[in-house]
Amino acid sequence: MTSNVGGFAAVVLAAGQGTRMKSALPKVLHEIAGRPMVDWPVAAALEAGAARVVVVLGYGKAQVEAALELAGGRVETALQAEQRGTGHAVRCALPSLEGFEGTVVILYGDVPLLEASALEALVGARGAAALSLLTCRTSSPTGYGRILRDGTGAVVGIREEKDCSDAERAIDEINPGVYATDAAFLREALAALTDDNAQGELYLTDIVAAAAARGGARAVPWALESLSGVNDRAQLADAAAVMRRRIATRHARAGVTIRDLARVDIDAEVTIEADAVIEPGVVLRGATAIGAGAHVDVGCVVTDSVLEPGAYLEPYSVVTESRVGPAAHVGPFSHLRPGSVMGPRAKVGNFVEMKKTTLGEDAKANHLSYLGDGTVGPRVNIGAGTIFCNYDGFRKHQTVLEEGCFIGSDSQLVAPVRVGAGAYVATGTTVTKDVPPDALAVGRIRQSNKEGYASRLKARFAALAKAEKEKKDAQEP
Ligand code: UD1
Ligand code: CA
Repeated sequence: MTSNVGGFAAVVLAAGQGTRMKSALPKVLHEIAGRPMVDWPVAAALEAGAARVVVVLGYGKAQVEAALELAGGRVETALQAEQRGTGHAVRCALPSLEGFEGTVVILYGDVPLLEASALEALVGARGAAALSLLTCRTSSPTGYGRILRDGTGAVVGIREEKDCSDAERAIDEINPGVYATDAAFLREALAALTDDNAQGELYLTDIVAAAAARGGARAVPWALESLSGVNDRAQLADAAAVMRRRIATRHARAGVTIRDLARVDIDAEVTIEADAVIEPGVVLRGATAIGAGAHVDVGCVVTDSVLEPGAYLEPYSVVTESRVGPAAHVGPFSHLRPGSVMGPRAKVGNFVEMKKTTLGEDAKANHLSYLGDGTVGPRVNIGAGTIFCNYDGFRKHQTVLEEGCFIGSDSQLVAPVRVGAGAYVATGTTVTKDVPPDALAVGRIRQSNKEGYASRLKARFAALAKAEKEKKDAQEP
């Protein structure tokens, strides 16, 4: 989606460490809906039609650069080696914009909820003025720069909180830090900045007074909900909650049944087709794709996986880097580890763990099994408590169960091993050598019944218990 305000350049400031996060990770790499925070304003700028985006990096530059989505070359980075303030940071982006005339949008990398529509409104509002900026009213302005207006209501500047007088601190209109400027004006205004302020920094916010002085600072009021800055981890959690709700709402509007919009956690890249059902407490992460009519029940966690149409995850199942086939069924309480692939209508019931194993169509493992490093053919039935013994302490080995074979409960398949098509493994068998097709494998001690023994045995045990009790009673005073 691109808009009609295209052709502008955007600068995203992301060089700070973010000390208030108290983190070894650079602030802008903390994630919101599975994406580094900085990717959100970059994506908003691109969606609003930015022809190019310059991201200013400093603290942890290599690490941030590696995580950035470069959007096919439209995103580039600039270095601010020393963090001397937001104005200084924009100065560091100027060499990348050399020769560029027109609108430069400036935003901060710690404002993840910003929508493209806000940028479109902002760019549209600038017109021929030197600058336009978003502003917000809020009952809790703490931490933000305050908007200063004159008697006529015109914006005359921004005062950082640390530089505010008591009266200024009481102002409830704040600077969310999103600006559209004319490139020529920006170069001039940045050159004139000084660090004569409480933090000894070059404040970008001072360009607003410079624009006002020439009659050109246009304010665009916008809701704070989508503009709140993330400076600490409480604000990070708040922003993530807003984003979660936004993503859930988008899917619901597109035809997904989301039972409770506030109690699902769906990453940005996840795709869900219409008529899928997502129950409360579900977490869908990474590049997960959910097919039409699939049902993800309460408490499931699905990461980088595909659920084909009509697949059903019963509650509390965990699926990672796996594929659940059409109308296949998992859980409750089952675990598909990386490399699990279930064919059409295949079923794993409760307490089944799979890893690097393929189940053919209509194959079943209904209860309590470990299926690791296996290939299971169509219509195989795996009984309760079956274990693929895939690891000898040094290497992993394959178990192959051919089409239509039957594995009795409590069997162990000591890999490498193959059970032929249609073969039958009797309950409780430890399979250590290949079973030919259509053969019966039995490996257990033959049962013998001793007639009338049960009552004699019980009488003997009862007598022993009685004698022990009498002896103990006699010892007590
Ligand atoms: C800034 C604004 C404040 C506004 C608030 C909105 C200034 C002086 N103040 O304050 O008016 O209300 O954002 O959220 O602009 N950065 C650099 N290099 C630097 C300093 C900062 O790249 O030298 C980056 C940071 O990584 C961050 C962004 O700029 O992504 C904002 O910096 P931060 O220190 O969070 O500014 P605030 O104190 O929040
Ligand atoms: Ca901030």
